[in-house]
Amino acid sequence: MDLLKEGYDPADSIVQGVKIVEDDPTDESVGYGGLPNADGVVELDACVMYGPTHKTGAVASIRNIKNPAQVALLVLRRTDHCLLVGEGAYRFAISHGFKHEDLLTEHARREWMNWRENMSHDDDWLNDDERDATVGKTWDALPWQSAPTRDTTPRTNDGPNIREKQEKPADTPVEGGQPKKTASRPYIMEVTGTIHCSALTAKGDIASCTTTSGLNWKIPGRVGDSPIIGAGNYCDNDIGAAGSTGRGEANIVTLASARIVDWMGAGQTPEEACRNMCKYVCDHMKEKRLWKTEGDKRTPTFDLKFYALRKDGLFGGASLWNGGEMAVCDAAGARAIKMAYLFERK
Ligand code: GLY
Repeated sequence: MDLLKEGYDPADSIVQGVKIVEDDPTDESVGYGGLPNADGVVELDACVMYGPTHKTGAVASIRNIKNPAQVALLVLRRTDHCLLVGEGAYRFAISHGFKHEDLLTEHARREWMNWRENMSHDDDWLNDDERDATVGKTWDALPWQSAPTRDTTPRTNDGPNIREKQEKPADTPVEGGQPKKTASRPYIMEVTGTIHCSALTAKGDIASCTTTSGLNWKIPGRVGDSPIIGAGNYCDNDIGAAGSTGRGEANIVTLASARIVDWMGAGQTPEEACRNMCKYVCDHMKEKRLWKTEGDKRTPTFDLKFYALRKDGLFGGASLWNGGEMAVCDAAGARAIKMAYLFERK
């Protein structure tokens, strides 16, 4: 907002805004400090869309570059293309003067190693409960590392936070007659936090941006909804903008952001369009594993959040589950507002 007031373009303003979190090593879901893929490598996705020219720029699976939204803005402004991926996106960023940086923080590395070691007893990585006791003190940290700690505080993200694997009952029939052991220590299962940021100028121009490190422990090369225009981000200068955070796969198959903007164009308020999109996602979700069934009640196993801004300044959002909040800033100041929802957690 400060940059908009100083006369900066809305695209530059939002890209500088999300940079604050991309640079933050304590945020586990965006930029530097984001949790890595299954190989322990941080891969980032981002997209910017610009209302005045109806053009977009995006990067997907980019490594070693801290600020993917800034690279996406350069794709928008300095190329004829919309989306660069992987090695090409990295080389494009380097050629524009971005620094090669190691994005894996010590905290993220430890969380990844905790997941890697504790996810199964059927691999060669020893789970915490498989390691033999030692007869003396052990020196667990390498000389340049701080003392090991394990963070088990609940995450404020869109995923199911830390999931503790349950021990199988001893009488569960298993192959070879031996009950199969399962991991006993909690590890971070899914973090799908992301930032979407949209801005509207006093003259009515709109820009929107989404940036993320994507799903933690993902298969290397996995691209979420954030850099897919129409899915994680979309804007139309005549109508408004929309974006999403949460389970990207559910968003890619429904092209939610473009649909929300279209629905606002057809007369729905931002909140109505976001809430109707939550319903649309559920109506189109046919994969059984994504539903939890208790009696005749079916609830999704993940969360998805939608944020929308209309050309007249009205904004709103909705999420599958209750408890969602979005940050807004207008003439009335900066504040968090509650989002509409479909399902209620007790
Ligand atoms: N919405 C972020 C992702 O799924 O990667």
